[in-house]
Amino acid sequence: MSRILVTGAAGFIGSHTVELLLQEGHEVLGVDNFRTGREANLQTFLTHPRFRFLRGDVAEPGELASLSTGFRPDAIIHLAAMVSVPESIAHPAENHRLNFLATTLVADVALAAGARRIVFASSAAVYGTNDALPLSEDATCQPLSPYGEAKLQSEHHLLHAAREHGLTVRCQRYFNVFGPRQDPSSAYSGVISRFHDALTLGRTPTIHGDGEQTRDFIYVGDVARANLLAATMPRVQSGTANICTGHSVSLNQLLTAMAQAAGKTCQPLYGPARAGDIRQSLGSPARAKLELSFQPATSLDAGLATLFAR
Ligand code: UD1
Repeated sequence: MSRILVTGAAGFIGSHTVELLLQEGHEVLGVDNFRTGREANLQTFLTHPRFRFLRGDVAEPGELASLSTGFRPDAIIHLAAMVSVPESIAHPAENHRLNFLATTLVADVALAAGARRIVFASSAAVYGTNDALPLSEDATCQPLSPYGEAKLQSEHHLLHAAREHGLTVRCQRYFNVFGPRQDPSSAYSGVISRFHDALTLGRTPTIHGDGEQTRDFIYVGDVARANLLAATMPRVQSGTANICTGHSVSLNQLLTAMAQAAGKTCQPLYGPARAGDIRQSLGSPARAKLELSFQPATSLDAGLATLFAR
């Protein structure tokens, strides 16, 4: 059993990760300030005997240190973030605070508390435009947004701390994560949650651009397992790995598949393309398989079926 501190525990990926850690017998301290996380996401495990939740802002200097006093984590899984690319363009200073400065504070807490491992929620957005598909971790990183920039800077900061202080740092470059509990309520929300909302409420979904942009969608349950492995697997070395499926679809194909899963027909509205939007995104899952023995188990169709069955 490990003691694991999870930031962003009430978020979409955070709550699935905590749930799996508890199922696997670990002790978890979850922290979240409910900026985008939700209390409702904690419901299924809030009273679990090996779970404790504390409300707090990881980006506020000193706050995580004081919240986690006495917990002595073996590992920290740092998921708290501003998750949206367009929001990072609209609010670059807040992006820097939440997606970079907070990471440096997490590294400080890990060192002070004696944690041996940090798992970091990085992103495919670090690659930016790159035609060398599928993207391997050695591909050139040229982020198109402040979001991708901050994630890349955070990776560098953590990997540097790992070298300096002998920690193990795993940077997980998530591709497009989808599944239950993804909040559809903002214009910044993930596209599958937006389309799901539109299809179930009978509204017209909007496609930004021509819909031929592609994404590698990975089911949140698989991402939670990748986090569990990165945090707890013995003899793991520091490094960076894509957390992806190695398959991509265009948004037009995605909407057709979702309409089918919902048993509906659907004509979207096409709007202007988004600034900072990557055109093509497809990852190579080879390194995560090699270094973490991680392979996604849920196909896009199976994940969509779960989403529409709820
Ligand atoms: C997503 C994640 C980001 C992650 C990155 C990794 C979210 C909110 N963002 O960014 O955290 O690091 O993947 O690759 O989960 N779109 C529409 N209509 C909509 C909403 C979106 O056409 O209603 C389009 C967007 O313009 C974009 C695509 O769908 O082309 C995906 O957008 P989005 O789900 O916001 O994710 P990313 O920007 O790829």
